[in-house]
Amino acid sequence: MKRVVIDTDAGVDDSIAIAYASRFPDVTIELITTVSGNVPVSEVTQNVLYLRGILGVNSPVFSGAGAPRSRELVTAPEVHGEDGVGGYRKSEGISFRGWETGGAASEIVRAARKYGRKLTIISLGPMTNIAQAVMLDAAAIKGIGNVVQMGGVFSGYGNTSLFTEFNIFVDPESASFVLESGVKVTFVPLDLTETLFLPRELANELLMKINESSPDLAQLFRKALNYYIDYHKRNDKLDGCFLHDAIAVAAAIHPEWFRFIGSSVSVETQGKLTAGMTLADFRKKAGRESSRIAVAFDGVRFMTDLSRRVFGYRVGTSTVSQKCLRERFVADFRNHLR
Ligand code: BDR
Ligand code: CA
Repeated sequence: MKRVVIDTDAGVDDSIAIAYASRFPDVTIELITTVSGNVPVSEVTQNVLYLRGILGVNSPVFSGAGAPRSRELVTAPEVHGEDGVGGYRKSEGISFRGWETGGAASEIVRAARKYGRKLTIISLGPMTNIAQAVMLDAAAIKGIGNVVQMGGVFSGYGNTSLFTEFNIFVDPESASFVLESGVKVTFVPLDLTETLFLPRELANELLMKINESSPDLAQLFRKALNYYIDYHKRNDKLDGCFLHDAIAVAAAIHPEWFRFIGSSVSVETQGKLTAGMTLADFRKKAGRESSRIAVAFDGVRFMTDLSRRVFGYRVGTSTVSQKCLRERFVADFRNHLR
C-alpha cells in the first residue's frame, strides 16, 4: 500500500491528477491540503471538497497558505477560470460550508511523523505549505519517502515568465527554502510535462466515455477541460492541453515509467527577470545532489493508464503515439548560426 499526501492548487490539471490518484486501489490518499496558486486557496479548497464528493474519496482536506512566503500572490484565472475549474462550480452554485479550515502544514507534519518512509508528498502547486511544514519539523519531512514536485523548467522556456514555470514562479522563496533545508525533492518539470498533450478530439472522446460511468465528473471535466484547452489554443497554438500534475502523480506512483537524473537544484529568488528560475548543472556530479529531476518518461504508458483509470476508456497505444507525443521547442544556438 502506498500512502500519499496531495498538496494542490486545483486547478484543472490538478483535478484530473487527484481523480487519477484516487483510482489506484493500492494507493491511499491520507490527506489533501490546499494552497493558493492557480486560484486563491478558498476556491481551491472548494474544488477539492467538490471533487472528493464526486470521486467518493474520504481523505481529510485542510486548507493552507493564502499567499506565498514573501511576495504578492499571482494567480492564473485565464488558464483555469476564476473558480479554478473553468467556471463550472460558480455556474452551478456549488459551495461548501463547515469544512475543516486551516492547518495544512501541521497536518502534513502529522502525516510525515506517522508514516515516515512510507509516505510520499505529491506537490502540485507552489511549495508554500511544504516550506511551512519544513519550518515546523524539518526532520519529519526529511524522513518521508519522497517529495514529488510538479514544477521547474531546466532547459528552454517557461510558461510564466521567460524562464520560469508557474508553481516555482509563484513562490520561489518557499521552493528555495525547502531545497536549502536539505529535503530531497523529485522534480517533474515543465520540460517533461510539455512533451505530452491531450488533443481536443481525444479529450472529447474521453468525456463521452466518462459520462456513462460518472456523469458528475463528466460535467465538471467538460466545462473545465474546454476552458483549459481554449487557453492553450490562444496561448500555445495547440488545440489540446497539458496534463502536468497528472504526470507528477504518475511519477510518484509509477517511478519505473520515468528516467531521473540526480542533481543539485537552486532557485533564483532575486532576479528582476528571472525570479523563480530553477537551475541544475547536469555536467557536475557533486556527490551531494539535493534533488532528482525527471527527464524522460513513457508517455504512452501514462496516457493509456490515465484514460483507463479516470475515464474508463481504453485508448490505443498507436493513437497516443501519433496524437499525444510532441517535441518541445528548446532553443539551440547552433541552429541560428547555420
Ligand atoms: C503547473 O502550474 C499550474 O497552472 C498547473 O496546475 C501545474 O501545476 C504547470 O506549470
Ligand atoms: Ca497545479
